[in-house]
Amino acid sequence: MPDFASTLVAWQRRHGRHDLPWQRTRDPYRIWLAEVMLQQTQVSTATPYYERFLRRFPGVESLAAASEEEVLRLWSGLGYYARGRNLHRAAREIVERHGGRFPRQPESLDALPGVGRSTAAAIAAFAFGKRAAILDGNARRVLARSFAAEGEKDLWRLAERLLPKRNIESYTQALMDLGATICTRLDPRCDACPVRKRCVALRQGRISALPAPRARRPRPLRSVTWLVLLRGAQVLLERRPGAGLWGGLWAFPEAERKHVAAHCRNVLGCELAGTRELEPFEHGFSHFRLSVQPVLCEVARATPRAEAPGRLWVDLADAGEAAVPQPVKKLLVGLSGAQGS
Ligand code: ADE
Repeated sequence: MPDFASTLVAWQRRHGRHDLPWQRTRDPYRIWLAEVMLQQTQVSTATPYYERFLRRFPGVESLAAASEEEVLRLWSGLGYYARGRNLHRAAREIVERHGGRFPRQPESLDALPGVGRSTAAAIAAFAFGKRAAILDGNARRVLARSFAAEGEKDLWRLAERLLPKRNIESYTQALMDLGATICTRLDPRCDACPVRKRCVALRQGRISALPAPRARRPRPLRSVTWLVLLRGAQVLLERRPGAGLWGGLWAFPEAERKHVAAHCRNVLGCELAGTRELEPFEHGFSHFRLSVQPVLCEVARATPRAEAPGRLWVDLADAGEAAVPQPVKKLLVGLSGAQGS
């Protein structure tokens, strides 16, 4: 029987993906950008973001020269914004410490902000043909099932041991493609799998049990009240601090429900004509759920404090274009539609 890697390489050539926008290039910048975007995002979602990013930032120098604000604006809607902030930091490191050239060794790539062991290996393989093992979600599923392997250490050791001497690019892509198209988490198409004859999980009837889902803690519910201050056709956004949730992005001010009017007056410098509760909703994060009660606050009078740094009155019609997280954008778009009609 041909070995595991040869079987996957042959399968990838015939049945794998060859026309994704970040393929057919060895440009480490493009490959790095794609791999970071694809870390927690599907190909179909990431693709338009990838293309927009490349148009605006064709190379690592232009990305490094941009403001974080602009990078986050282009990232806006993709989620996991630490990725966008790290992308920007990594671009600056590459320009400042590496003379604008990507390091070629997986260990050096791994040291860049936002690049972990698997992403570093993917970049090293695709851009430089380096023999390095990936273990992203897709590769993990393929290997866990094919070899009935469990546990981080064993899976990494297995991933390293299986690496072919040649064709590392096709092999790496094969793991991703097989995991994304055949060896899917639910309803895998084992009849179409090139390694079904040697798949231990299939033989043992353990496909649905492998890989064992990571123990997921129940996600706690956090409640917030968003203050949607409207002054004519303008709405107030606040820049969120540094590295926390949605750090660096623009969002609505928050206050306790019972202190809305006082907060508007004492902190935001706005006297209100009235308030109205909008439709509450929930937004899911990886580690908690956010329950949001938006309160529409109609501004009667604003003092200069309303213009403090870190505050921005934006035209409702343009507000969705700012560096705002998805649920803020959605609310803004809804309001803008309601006002326009
Ligand atoms: N997921 C992560 N990296 C990928 C890639 N290069 N192609 C397709 N899907 C991916």
